[in-house]
Amino acid sequence: MIIKSIKLDNFRCHKEFNFDFKKKTSIIVGENGSGKTSVLEAIYIALLGKSFRATDPDILKRDSEFYRIEINFTNGEKTVVAYSLINGVLKKQFLVGEKKYLRLPKKYRYPIVLFLPDDLHLIGSSPTRKRDFFDRILGGLDDNYSNLLNRYEKALKQRNDLLKKYSEFNLDEVKNVIFSWNLLLAKYGVEIRKKRQEFIFEINNRLTETYRSIAENSDILELEYQLQGEDISESEYLKRLEDELQRDLILGHTGFGIHRDNYNFIFNNSDADGSASRGEVRSIILALKFIEAELIYEKTGKRPIVLLDDVFSELDETRQKSLTSNFKDNQVIITSVDIVN
Ligand SMILES: Nc1ncnc2c1ncn2[C@@H]1O[C@H](COP(=O)(O)OP(=O)(O)O)[C@@H](O)[C@H]1O
Ligand SMILES: [Mg+2]
Repeated sequence: MIIKSIKLDNFRCHKEFNFDFKKKTSIIVGENGSGKTSVLEAIYIALLGKSFRATDPDILKRDSEFYRIEINFTNGEKTVVAYSLINGVLKKQFLVGEKKYLRLPKKYRYPIVLFLPDDLHLIGSSPTRKRDFFDRILGGLDDNYSNLLNRYEKALKQRNDLLKKYSEFNLDEVKNVIFSWNLLLAKYGVEIRKKRQEFIFEINNRLTETYRSIAENSDILELEYQLQGEDISESEYLKRLEDELQRDLILGHTGFGIHRDNYNFIFNNSDADGSASRGEVRSIILALKFIEAELIYEKTGKRPIVLLDDVFSELDETRQKSLTSNFKDNQVIITSVDIVN
């Protein structure tokens, strides 16, 4: 699938915006604040169904009544996203193939590899940020994973709401009302961990080799999934939630679970955070993006569209070349403050 053009109405700062894309590499150039990331965001919504950074009320141009995204593909197909009043309520609708949908059907989705400026700081970033990073990749590769994670997060929220409602003095009462949520968290938690472990295994199978193809050296790189506690069974997971109930009641939130797991990069047997140089860190992130695109292609047979937000000009010439050659079969859309040659 190749995007031919985009047309935006009332999308963020764009009252009206039109752009024609090249088959291979397109570059959107503009000052900071001119709306470049917003264009990538619009593409992302039209291809995957929702934004990577915000909800529709934030996206709707201030003082406007609707927004609209129209994407035309080179094969003649098109996707329209309209966020407008329906029976007095603002709603988003997808118009594809003469039909309207409230959610973008799977068959009309198309994979994207997104590269944001902040990704360059992944290695030294917080566990939350790292989990979000890998959760998004995994979710793009495996629908079951996104579903599991959604369910886990809903159950976690319910449990946390209960923890806030009761105090540690009602322990026996809470034990009963919270039990079903413990069960769900243990069930989904263990499944999510398993999927993350399999995914990390797949990444590690390729990581050093991919990294070396960029850095042209003999460094060794490994991604480590760091569990909070041990690798435990569902019943042990459940027991831990039960054992920590009193502490959770005092804290007002759930202290144990996969929402606390972390990822580390091990670079030549040391933590990459602190040992890898700025350039090496960039090569590591590039390697991850290459692997993500590769895995998507292997799993779906589709070459993801690559969106590079303000990162291309941040890379030195060698890494730019490596990126261009790795994504030679993908449509690549770059944003930049400077003109890129
Ligand atoms: N809902 C909105 N309505 C109007 N302007 C918005 C809205 N949301 C964001 N903006 C503005 O849009 C501008 C462009 O944002 P962005 O796409 O991030 O620009 P760039 O990536 O080119 O720096 C920002 O100046 C921001 O203040
Ligand atoms: Mg931007």
